Amino acid sequence: MPSKVRKVVFPAAGLGTRFLPATKASPKEMLPIVDKPIIQYGVEEALQSGIQNIIIVTGRGKSAIEDHFDVSFELEDMLEKRGKKDLLAIVRGISDMIDVAYIRQKEALGLGHAVLRARELVGDEPFAVVLADDVIEADTPCLKQLLDVYNFFNAPVLAVMEVSPEEISSYGAIAAEPVSHSGATGQVYRIHDLIEKPKASEAPSNLAIIGRYVLTPEIFDSLTSIKPGSGGEIQLTDALRHLLHSRPIYACKFQGTRYDAGDRLGFLKATVEYALRRKDLGGPFREYLKGLKLGE
Ligand code: G1P
Repeated sequence: MPSKVRKVVFPAAGLGTRFLPATKASPKEMLPIVDKPIIQYGVEEALQSGIQNIIIVTGRGKSAIEDHFDVSFELEDMLEKRGKKDLLAIVRGISDMIDVAYIRQKEALGLGHAVLRARELVGDEPFAVVLADDVIEADTPCLKQLLDVYNFFNAPVLAVMEVSPEEISSYGAIAAEPVSHSGATGQVYRIHDLIEKPKASEAPSNLAIIGRYVLTPEIFDSLTSIKPGSGGEIQLTDALRHLLHSRPIYACKFQGTRYDAGDRLGFLKATVEYALRRKDLGGPFREYLKGLKLGE
């Protein structure tokens, strides 16, 4: 039996330059999609996948994330006195929901470096990684889909999706062969190679890595063995490539819709689609959109 995955690492030390000036003084992870910060979508996905221990790798100027997941006595007291029970439940829900630990990444030296910072807190057990920028709407949470594959193969698993050839150079790309899983093929792949941000002409496929991973603790040794890669940063993809020499790694083409909330257009799409799905807002928002006179 594979060991249970109890912990999830959220790298959240990035500078958020794509969202300046909004991210000059507030973390990009706190930008709201409708009324919930981006990072909370990822945290709720982890909870819905059965993982309660949250490790957030933060950096300078990220204290709003810690405050968000902490108890806010003044706010709760005020809501209680004013009898705002619904809002009180929402605010309490956030801090009650998780057991969260923070570790600092003092310099932004890459995703792999951020994950390595969590080594002591993770210890010698399997763990998940969630990149909060990738917001994923799915009937079965994306991380849960990966955990099912991990439990079957007892090996690391990455989320992947097909992207167009022009887009692949923005991602990590994999070379892989389909394997059958739960009687189906085309959903799960065994990985042969991984390349971070390949040129379109050098991409091994159009299967792009998306920000959900289930990893085993050997990844930490790989992270200390590799040299800086794409962008001069320590890349998680390069560490996985290193690990591939000693153990199989799988990819799961997840079912669901992924929004790149770290990109302005992706963020807008997520905002519109999440608002349309909301019971309290969807109807009037749809009416408003229908009434817009959109020129060519
Ligand atoms: C990171 C990973 C990349 C992955 C991407 C998914 O890149 O390094 O392999 O495809 O997330 O969102 P970033 O977007 O941080 O440059």
